[in-house]
Amino acid sequence: MKHPLIVGNWKLNGNKNTITNLIIALVNNLSNISKCNIAVAPPVMYLDIVRHYLLDSHIQLCAQNVDVHFSGSFTGDISAEMLKDLHTRYVIIGHSERRIHHKENDVYIAKKFSILKKIGLIPILCIGENKNEYDSGYTQSICINQIKTITKLIGVEALKNSVIAYEPIWAIGSGNSASPENVQAVHKFIRDYIASCDVSVANTITMQYGGSVTPENVIQFLNQKDIDGVLVGAASLKADSFAAIVQIAEKYEQLHHS
Ligand code: PGA
Repeated sequence: MKHPLIVGNWKLNGNKNTITNLIIALVNNLSNISKCNIAVAPPVMYLDIVRHYLLDSHIQLCAQNVDVHFSGSFTGDISAEMLKDLHTRYVIIGHSERRIHHKENDVYIAKKFSILKKIGLIPILCIGENKNEYDSGYTQSICINQIKTITKLIGVEALKNSVIAYEPIWAIGSGNSASPENVQAVHKFIRDYIASCDVSVANTITMQYGGSVTPENVIQFLNQKDIDGVLVGAASLKADSFAAIVQIAEKYEQLHHS
């Protein structure tokens, strides 16, 4: 049984001062956690500051983005090797905010996935549908197509031990999370699809839900069989609420899987 994976995506927020205070508070509040995997994703320029505070902690470092090149004339970009150099463990790719604001498509995201696997970093592949697609009943086909681009390019084996975060775009930052039962159904559909390609790979995948997760609703998601963790945006920006989410997951694990 794998431990739940709780990741805080800080997006484009904070400064040296607030980020330092946030990570110090999290390290203190979460020192007793042994049944959850935890990671935080600060803005890239603060990765090294956060890493400094994580040296004696089991909280892991996550990056919010990566470039498709290892090095060269690509002004402003950050390579997977640079992230690895800073002891980053996870990298978020395919987030809807990058798909929308930076026009990143499935093929480009698949290239990022491939680079991360090559270098030994764990991709957190975000997938999910927008409101129109949800209303039209296209959720499952959208999610599968987003995954298929990767398996076509580099094979289903590449998905082994990776993280897939199902994030309905309409639920992100809206205060209206998706219903836990619907998320469970989507996760099961995705896992079954991957199992139809390769059962052993399907069993190694961690499936997170993301979209307005809070301390109040997290338990309902963790209670679902195919939800292995959560990707948290707004509620990860305050030490109290992110720590509360992790503590709830820890208690749940103690009760159900010890
Ligand atoms: P949210 O963001 O928790 O603020 O909805 C989630 C995400 O974008 O990963």
